[in-house]
Amino acid sequence: MYKDVERVLVSNEDIDEMLTRLGDAITKDYEGQELVVLCVLKGGFIFAADLVRRINLRVDIDFIAASSYGSGTETTGVVQLKKDTDLSLEGKHVLIVEDIVDSGVTLSYLKKLFEARNPLSVKICTAFDKPARRKAKELKIDYVGKVIEDEFVVGYGLDYDEKMRNMPELYVLKRSVYEQED
Ligand code: IMP
Ligand code: MG
Repeated sequence: MYKDVERVLVSNEDIDEMLTRLGDAITKDYEGQELVVLCVLKGGFIFAADLVRRINLRVDIDFIAASSYGSGTETTGVVQLKKDTDLSLEGKHVLIVEDIVDSGVTLSYLKKLFEARNPLSVKICTAFDKPARRKAKELKIDYVGKVIEDEFVVGYGLDYDEKMRNMPELYVLKRSVYEQED
């Protein structure tokens, strides 16, 4: 076990099941259509890489970056677009792929932004959903890997202060790791 983590929350096995389920659902829902997958950096990179390999469709893939977090564990509520897509979204089905939805502020912002570019549709797929602290109550999440409790998690792309993204499963971070810094 990694030293900064308390326990495994979503195991490799659970992740594998989740990828198959989501990949199959997306493949079926967009059958005969093309899809633009927009991976939200940095956290979404591992999930998106795994997910697109379970989607049996023609997909265009691009990366976008937004931030609503400081370096700690609480959202600031202010979203900044740091990297946009070069792809035209006009007349396209767009799927935003994110690591985790917490307050939902980031995805509400991104969804509105892309909806303004005349796409056929904009949907959201997240690996993990933490509904307990949702602020954007109206936000619809179309595909969810796993709903989790209100705990700060790391691994499978998710970071604490830019670290731990490479840990393969999803873990609960030890409180002592961030409490000592506050
Ligand atoms: P939201 O705008 O509050 O929904 O925040 C979404 C972003 O905050 C995610 O894309 C993550 O980058 C980050 N985030 C939210 N919860 C966690 C967590 O438990 N661990 C690591 N990052 C998180
Ligand atoms: Mg993120």
